[in-house]
Amino acid sequence: MLPKSANARKMTAPSPPAEENARKAQWGAPGLPIHVGIIMDGNGRWAAGRGLPRAAGHRRGVQALRETVRAAIEFGLGYLTVYSFSQENWNRPVEEIADLMGLLRRFIRNDLDELVKAGVKVKVIGVRDNLQPDIRALLEEAEERTQGNSRLNLIVAFNYGSRQEIAAAARILAQEAAAGLIKPADIDEILLAGRLDTGGIPDPDLIIRTSGEQRLSNFMLWQAAYAELVFLPLHWPDFDRDAFSAALKEFAARERRFGGVTGRRCGEIVLAK
Ligand code: FPP
Repeated sequence: MLPKSANARKMTAPSPPAEENARKAQWGAPGLPIHVGIIMDGNGRWAAGRGLPRAAGHRRGVQALRETVRAAIEFGLGYLTVYSFSQENWNRPVEEIADLMGLLRRFIRNDLDELVKAGVKVKVIGVRDNLQPDIRALLEEAEERTQGNSRLNLIVAFNYGSRQEIAAAARILAQEAAAGLIKPADIDEILLAGRLDTGGIPDPDLIIRTSGEQRLSNFMLWQAAYAELVFLPLHWPDFDRDAFSAALKEFAARERRFGGVTGRRCGEIVLAK
């Protein structure tokens, strides 16, 4: 007989391919990822290469973000997660932090109407406690005004750190166990995943990082267990619909095995030029 938690897992956790098929009934064509995560890196180097201040790179980065959200809708993705500000980004100079906060303000103020109309549902993951009150209010407004939408889920990872997120989930489970709501033996990966900021959101199928760096930098470490990783040699401000489309084609050519031995090619996808 299986131990209780393993038994529960067997009954409740669909195998990744089955889960994927169920999700594909709602979103995407064969070979298209349901959830794409993007590490938008290289704004500073893009600006330095042009003799511009780093802030100019971040401003162009917002433009690339806009184009990316539009492309994600057009491609029929279900979820797009963008790494916009990491908990480690507080180590940057105060002026740059102020620039990034200012860009978030402007992005929400300028683009929220378009997101609402386009059917985008916004969710923000990360820690909010130490953000300025007006930023917290804007994040809440973006979530509230888009909560009825379902075309594309835009997950903004802001003041986000994956290790901190996992530690917070462990803390919640410990509190639940201390309160007698769960038993320590009940804790398995399904229970923990449900306490992450991303609880209820399918794991990313594909993670794209621009700038040529090849690491996750504390982005969705738990959720990326079976994600395909695509590293692009261009800086984030140069990322556009064509680069996105090329990354999706590379995903489609990958074979995913989810720890088993039988490979499944992600599939051929055809995207309009
Ligand atoms: C990495 O480039 C990028 C960031 C730290 C922030 C990403 C932010 C945006 C794309 C614009 C802001 C958007 C919102 C919604 C706030 P980098 O500065 O690390 O570049 P570098 O590695 O070349 O120095």
